[in-house]
Amino acid sequence: MKFHKVLIQWYLINKRDLPWRKTANPYPIWLSEIILQQTRVAQGTPYFYSFLESFPTVYDLAQAEEQQVLKLWQGLGYYSRARNLHRTAQYVVSECQGVFPDSFSGLLQLKGVGEYTAAAIASFAYNEPVPVVDGNVYRVLSRFFGIETDISSGKAKKEFTALAAELLPKDQPALFNQAIMEFGAMQCVPKNPDCENCIFNSNCVALQKGLVGELPVKSKKLKVTHRYFNYIVVNDSNGNTKLQQRTDKGIWFNLYEFPLIETLQEEAFETIAPLIQNDTSFGSSVVSIHEVNSIGIVHKLSHQHLHIKFWKVKLEVALEEGITIKQLKTFPFPIVIHNFIEDEILQNSSKK
Ligand code: ADE
Repeated sequence: MKFHKVLIQWYLINKRDLPWRKTANPYPIWLSEIILQQTRVAQGTPYFYSFLESFPTVYDLAQAEEQQVLKLWQGLGYYSRARNLHRTAQYVVSECQGVFPDSFSGLLQLKGVGEYTAAAIASFAYNEPVPVVDGNVYRVLSRFFGIETDISSGKAKKEFTALAAELLPKDQPALFNQAIMEFGAMQCVPKNPDCENCIFNSNCVALQKGLVGELPVKSKKLKVTHRYFNYIVVNDSNGNTKLQQRTDKGIWFNLYEFPLIETLQEEAFETIAPLIQNDTSFGSSVVSIHEVNSIGIVHKLSHQHLHIKFWKVKLEVALEEGITIKQLKTFPFPIVIHNFIEDEILQNSSKK
């Protein structure tokens, strides 16, 4: 039997019941794909529902404040995706009369929509016969066909896209694309796949050659930099704190944080305390400094590992533009700061 027939048969029996598969409306499909670029299905599904609930149509999303979009995105990371999502909604409303482009090439013009996402939307919403090629597809095809091309090389995308296009049945593109991704996510998983119970185990080249653990080949490793963040969590005489918005392009652009002292290495109290005491923005009103987590939290992003410490600083004066605890809840934060606020500030204030 042909590859696509076996695959689709497997899919129809084993597929997960996922909300974005029940529609041909490009708006929720696009939303789901942008969210799923960022996270797995289990974690992404609640975000999908909360976006759709807050913004049932592309018009609602276009009209939202950026801050509200970032707040809903909070926890997914890589916030430029959320900003692109918002801008794209505005573009679709202002330039396309609220209607998403109805072809692969038209969709590619949208910010934040690359070849994978354009193919996903074009096939799921419009049944255009274009293949999706994501990490799942690389894995399934490299193993089944025993392809040893390095998937981080420039030529890999072309080679795998051509192969997927050849395998894709022109009359069932949506079904085939969903099926191959689902197969990669559920059956042909990166580590220890259950090849004994696999529909392809009599034809899979990787299985026959003992290469399942080696494929797909991926040579390029990301270079990770380490950064050391000390967040100064001020508590003034009114019980208010201080925030700043990150303005440099890079991580967490436009999100909020506590005043930050970045150091070249992890520093102890003896080094950080004088830096806080000499910080003119607090005046000379520091009453006490308390290191919340002497071991530090390591927050891992794709290219950076952030070593984060929080320092609680009591002031004897009132800040000019202090943020109240109630206001604190409304700002979009990176998830590590959000968690700190939940655990260390809101918990304590509700106990009082
Ligand atoms: N990952 C990316 N897109 C997906 C989809 N449509 N269904 C399940 N997982 C996905």
